[in-house]
This record gives sequence, structure tokens and C-alpha cells, in this order.
Amino acid sequence: MPGIAIIGSQWGDEGKGKIIDYLAKNSDLVVRAQGGNNAGHTVVVGDQKYALHLVPSGILNPDAINVIGNGVVIDPQVLLKELSGFEERGVNTSSLKISDKAHIIMPYHKIIDALMEESRGKEDIGTTKKGIGPCYMDKVERIGIRMADLVDEKMFAEKLNFALSRKNDIITKMYGKEALSYEDMYKEYIEYGRKLKKYVTATEFVVNKAIADNKKVLFEGAQGAMLDTDFGTYPYVTSSHPTVGGFLVGAGVNARAIDEVIGITKAYTTRVGKGPFVTEEDNATGDLIRQKGKEFGTTTGRPRRCGWLDLVVIKYTAMLNGYTSIALMLLDVLEGFEELKICVAYSLDGKEITELPSTREELERAIPVYKTVKGFTQEEITEAKTYESLPKEAKEYVQIIEEYVGVPVNIISVGPRRDQTILRKDFF
Ligand code: GDP
Ligand code: IMO
Ligand code: MG
Repeated sequence: MPGIAIIGSQWGDEGKGKIIDYLAKNSDLVVRAQGGNNAGHTVVVGDQKYALHLVPSGILNPDAINVIGNGVVIDPQVLLKELSGFEERGVNTSSLKISDKAHIIMPYHKIIDALMEESRGKEDIGTTKKGIGPCYMDKVERIGIRMADLVDEKMFAEKLNFALSRKNDIITKMYGKEALSYEDMYKEYIEYGRKLKKYVTATEFVVNKAIADNKKVLFEGAQGAMLDTDFGTYPYVTSSHPTVGGFLVGAGVNARAIDEVIGITKAYTTRVGKGPFVTEEDNATGDLIRQKGKEFGTTTGRPRRCGWLDLVVIKYTAMLNGYTSIALMLLDVLEGFEELKICVAYSLDGKEITELPSTREELERAIPVYKTVKGFTQEEITEAKTYESLPKEAKEYVQIIEEYVGVPVNIISVGPRRDQTILRKDFF
């Protein structure tokens, strides 16, 4: 059975964690293929809330194998803490497998992330300061330390020695800060390596075997397509590819491995960090959405910037990823607004356009062209169990999305819990 990919269709935090958890209940294998602990996926099971950063959300299904693929960057300190947090809550983590090719986030990556941001001044990106960008830089520069190195004491000593001497040059000569100690870092990290060794393997074989055996494989996206290094709002992007191509490389599978692509789409738009955001409502409307949607970051606690749904963005990311379904999330948050606005085009320098412009400058000049629709004010939709039982205006909102993007909205989420999910199609 070919896999299902879960992709954030906006700027992250669309509610991927909830849908991944929902589908992971029936999955045989769940794989993360890109990003690191910049991700924060919230899953609510009964009265229990889990915040996942690195461990795939399938960990809550005792029967699923969970894979952290080669495309992920791993902070071992964070991973071990997350694993012990699960064990304390009675969640078995023995099904985890970590790619031997995944790169390790080292202390100097986090320090350089913060120093780089500081040096940008008001041009900062607003990164999560988790060392994601600098770690991917080392991977591409070919001086990264991989999981296979971390679990091999001799290899780790060699690689760390080489990398740290260069990083200390940057930290001391460029930024005038104190050099980091090789000895302390070696001792601390080799201990992490010892603890993680049992999970480490060449995961591409595990994932491909599951596919060959016709198992149900779920690709868990982190971030969102608009944060993709190539296609997002560069330079206000992350350093990985949260698009379907990134999943193939990041898990080591071929293009036939995925045949269902679900674009996880918030019923409005949010973004954390800086960068252009055409439909932003930096006003009382945005404040109301933030308050109703509890829009504060899972990873950094930062208030998220809020605005109306932008279909120019969704149509663009649908094209890039080939969504076969859209999951419309947090629809309940829009309940109570008299009117709702949906962006259907941009006005750029007096011209109306529906193709997303490429540059930051154009995006900053773009003015949203809205279709205004009646809100759903009276009914309580958080208990709706079927599409038919949704208020008329909510159904119209769904139809506008389907018609504009040309993709069916097969999942509608009306609350954070598992049972607040309306399914219009069976997936696994
Ligand atoms: P992710 O990064 O895409 O996994 O999303 P986050 O977990 O960072 O943010 C989504 C938030 O919305 C979480 O707090 C979820 O529990 C919550 N959530 C998910 N779906 C719904 C929904 O349909 N309605 C409401 N009110 N909250 C939801
Ligand atoms: P999930 O998986 C929302 C944003 C950061 C910043 C930019 C670059 O929870 O949807 P980075 O630390 O990656 O170099 O920061 O990307 N960002 C996210 N925003 N959700 C995420 O993940 C994000 N991961 C990174 O805020 O703007
Ligand atoms: Mg998140």
C-alpha cells in the first residue's frame, strides 16, 4: 500500500500533529523526513496533551514503527528528554528507529543560530534558535556529524575535532565570543551517543521494506510548504524542504512510495517569526483569532501572527505537492465571526494576480483581494460529527476552498480532540 504524506500547506502549525496522530492509529510505520525540533506538534488524546518535537507522532500507537529519517536534524539532548518524558507517561518508545545518516545538532549550531540572528538586527528571520539552519549548513558543506559518527567513539572524536576547530574560529574571530571546550562537549555527547545507539540503523531499508510488504506508511511533515527553502517566502524560511520532494529524499524512498498527499490547512492563516504575510490582520481581528485559536507557539511560546485564509498560497502549495485531499483544521475557531474573508487574489502594483509572486519585496507590496462571506454565528460546531450537520455557511466556506484549489476537503477538524474530526473519505 503506497504511503500517505502529511504536509503543512501554510507556514506551519496547521494542526498536522492531530491528523498524523489520527491516521497513525492505523499506520504500520510513521516516518519524519525533514526539519528538527523547530517543529512542535500538539496531540490531544482524551485528557492527555502531548507536545512532540522530534519523535514521530506515531509513538502514541503501540503497534507502529516510528522512524526519524536521514533528512531530519537531531538534537540528541532534546531527543533523549522527549523519550524519557514519554516513558514517564507510560508510552513505550522501543519502536523508534533513527537514521544513521541523520545529522546531529551540536552546541555550536545553536550558538551560531543565535549569534547570526543577533547580527542581522532588525533583519532577523525569527528562527526558533534551535540550531536548525547551521546544522543543515554543515551537512551541505560536508563537515556535519551524523548519527553513525555519534555512536562511534573514535569517529566522533575525529569529526568533532575537525568541526569544532572551525566553529571556534567563527565564534571567537567573527563574533568575539569565547571558544567552546572540546573535552566537555566530547564527554557530554558521547554519553548521548551511548544512550541512543540501540535505535540507530539505516532506516531507508526499514521504510522501503514496509512499503514492499504493503504496509501502511505515513510520512509526517514538519513545518509548512511556505517555509520551504526554495518555494517559501525566502529568506524567511526554514532550512529544509517541507514539501513532498523533501520527504522522498529525507526518508530514502522513490516517487511511487506516496500516493495520497494531504495538505493540512488551517481555516485561517498564522505564521511565527518574521516575513511577508499578505493576509495578516495585525489588529483586533488578528487578536481575536489568536485568542480563540490559542495561537501561541508549541516550541517557543511566541504569539503567532494571525490573518485570513489565503487561497493564493493554498493553490500554490497544492500545485507543488499534488494534494489529493485537504484537511481543513480549526474551523471551530472561525465560529462567531459575523463575516469571514477569504483571499482569492493579490493586487500587485495595480494588477490582479493569482500566482504567488517570488520575491519578498513583491509579497510585501501585495494587497489581498478578498471574497467576503457570511460567518457561522449561531451553531456550536465543535460537536458536529458529519459534514451534513455543519452550519450552511461553514459548508459554503468548505466549497469555496474546494472549487478554488480543485482539491476535495476530505477532513474537517472542529476541535483539538480525536473525536472532533469529520472524515469524508477513508484513508487507511
Ligand atoms: P502542527 O505544528 O501543525 O502539528 O500544529 P500545532 O500543534 O503547533 O498547532 C495546532 C494547534 O491547534 C494545537 O494546539 C492543536 O491541539 C490545535 N488543534 C488542532 N486541530 C484543531 C481544531 O480543529 N480546533 C481547535 N480549536 N484546535 C485544534
Ligand atoms: P511545525 O512543525 C511554524 C519558522 C520559524 C522561523 C523560520 C525559520 O510546528 O509546524 P528555523 O528555526 O526553522 O530556522 O526558523 O521557520 N518555523 C516554524 N513555524 N511551525 C513550525 O513547525 C516551524 N518551524 C520553523 O518560526 O520563522
Ligand atoms: Mg507546530
